[in-house]
Amino acid sequence: MIDINMNGKVAIVTGAASGLGKAIALRFAQAGADVVVADINISSALETAEEIKSLCRKAITFQIDTRDSESFSKLIDTTTDNLGGLDFMINNAGIGIMKPIHEYSTDEIDRLIDINLKGTIYGCKAALAYMMPRNSGRIVNLSSIAAKMATPASSVYASAKAGVMALTAALAREAASSNININAICPGVVRTDMWEKQLNEMAGNGNEEEKAKIFASFTDMIPLKRPQEPVDIANMAVFLCSDLANNITAQSFAVDGGSTI
Ligand SMILES: NC(=O)c1ccc[n+]([C@@H]2O[C@H](COP(=O)([O-])OP(=O)(O)OC[C@H]3O[C@@H](n4cnc5c(N)ncnc54)[C@H](O)[C@@H]3O)[C@@H](O)[C@H]2O)c1
Repeated sequence: MIDINMNGKVAIVTGAASGLGKAIALRFAQAGADVVVADINISSALETAEEIKSLCRKAITFQIDTRDSESFSKLIDTTTDNLGGLDFMINNAGIGIMKPIHEYSTDEIDRLIDINLKGTIYGCKAALAYMMPRNSGRIVNLSSIAAKMATPASSVYASAKAGVMALTAALAREAASSNININAICPGVVRTDMWEKQLNEMAGNGNEEEKAKIFASFTDMIPLKRPQEPVDIANMAVFLCSDLANNITAQSFAVDGGSTI
């Protein structure tokens, strides 16, 4: 029987207050790991932590703005002090702002790059400072299919997410001699708060019927003809951190129902 057993392991998941990060945090807990729920939104992070505790795993919350590089060393220290170590770092926190290039304000461009790319760089740097001397650890970064294909109105978002793919490959080479595997996941279309905000903007008025129509126009293009669910992404994250993936590193895996064919 195939078994994924993460008992005694510790995972940090950024952006774990909602959406994919929450699903990833819960999946790690279901696999037996203790989890640090790191997010800018502390009240929702506390809810995720309560759900993890109800699975009889330890969970702590940590309020972080991933744009702040200094706060990552505090995050690692809090994790190791409270949970005894760090095995898996999941750099998931991100935002989505989709529009034609001329409609982006400078502030929106900065936020997309600062949170989606620089935040991931800071997370990797801090985790590796702990993991490399110990010759052990796994990192999973959240990229996007936008980095692999030219999805509509995604130029700045795609740039940041392509940066995450390049970061993942280059760092995987650097960390390989320390026995650390680093991979990325490129989710396809998952109807989280990120999509909800986007649909509200596209529908103009939050009209549910109109939003469903617009969402269907995206999912109709998926070869498997259905959107992905948060747990699909979470399953890949857990797999990549499991012993089943011991010899997988430097890759960016689409979980997208075939969209990037
Ligand atoms: N949903 C999709 O279809 C999809 C597709 C491709 C990639 N992704 C990527 O997956 C990741 C998760 O997206 P999601 O759909 O769950 O979004 P979401 O909006 O549901 O959740 C994002 C989480 O990140 C947190 N966050 C945002 N900015 C932060 C910051 N500066 N510091 C700390 N936390 C912050 C939010 O509070 C929230 O809890 C993102 O990196 C996103 O780009 C999502």
